[in-house]
Amino acid sequence: MASTYPISKAIRRDLGKVEEGLKRLAAEPDGVLADACGSTLAAGGKRLRPALVLLAGTAGSATLAELMPHCLAVELIHMASLVHDDILDDAPMRRGRPSVHAEWGVTVGIAVGDYLFSKAFEVAAAAELPSAPSILAKTSVDLTEGELMQRRAACRADLARTEYLARIEKKTASLFETACRLGALASAVPGPAADALAGYGLNLGMAFQIYDDVLDVAGESDVLGKAVGADLRDGTMTLPMMFAVEETGAVDWLRGALGVDSPGAVADALAVIDRTSAAQRAKDVARDYVESAVGRIADLEPRGLRATLRDVGNYVIQRYH
Ligand code: FPP
Ligand code: MG
Repeated sequence: MASTYPISKAIRRDLGKVEEGLKRLAAEPDGVLADACGSTLAAGGKRLRPALVLLAGTAGSATLAELMPHCLAVELIHMASLVHDDILDDAPMRRGRPSVHAEWGVTVGIAVGDYLFSKAFEVAAAAELPSAPSILAKTSVDLTEGELMQRRAACRADLARTEYLARIEKKTASLFETACRLGALASAVPGPAADALAGYGLNLGMAFQIYDDVLDVAGESDVLGKAVGADLRDGTMTLPMMFAVEETGAVDWLRGALGVDSPGAVADALAVIDRTSAAQRAKDVARDYVESAVGRIADLEPRGLRATLRDVGNYVIQRYH
């Protein structure tokens, strides 16, 4: 499995500049807020969303300076949402380190999320793309609705696949779509090509979340940097669980573990899932979404960009974390 995605040296160098920009923003506030922002930033991350802004930008003519605010904004919103998500999930670990609220307390965690979220809109508003703040606002609403859908559906072992797909579209795929759309718009890519890139992002995001849900039932916690089985413990029904229920023809084993704070019950349920082909079937669905993503950009120029976006798609469904 790949641990990083295949992009050109130029994009990798630009991502280094994005990292410097994030560091500058994290160091701006006073005291504990800067310390806590700095430590969440230092925990790293794939920076996949800013990479998508940069890649989509190469379909047109934007400079790094024109793309930079959008790179920062999508990553800041992503980071903010994870800090808040870890509070809601009461997750102790993120990226192999204590989560922000575990290290600094819930009050600081909420403030860090609010700060990063606010900064995203500050940088987006300063960009030369008047539609950027409203596009980001819509996506933020999607994220919030997706998160709420997840809470409302907690412990529902009978969740329909359509409800799961609607949730992950809002919670995850929306920001991937927006990253691609902002890169395209900032680069003055013509409408149909911008829509194609946004469609690629949306489908890629679906694949990403489905694969994330596979890793949660079939990954290894020391590799992932967070606990395996967290979705079971939190009561979050996912696609591989649905496939396992379908294959076993029973749901009691899942009901006994979903939302139950018992390591034994979670381990038992993971063992049941492991005996089925659920993880593989969910990976196959993720692969179908990558194929749809690549299909959306079939006519996109330049051709080299199409190949890179296909490689990114393959990475998303083969990564460790
Ligand atoms: C991680 O999912 C969480 C998200 C993708 C979205 C979280 C959204 C919110 C908390 C609401 C909106 C917040 C803002 C700032 C707009 P996961 O729990 O499946 O992944 P994980 O296992 O990595 O935690
Ligand atoms: Mg979570």
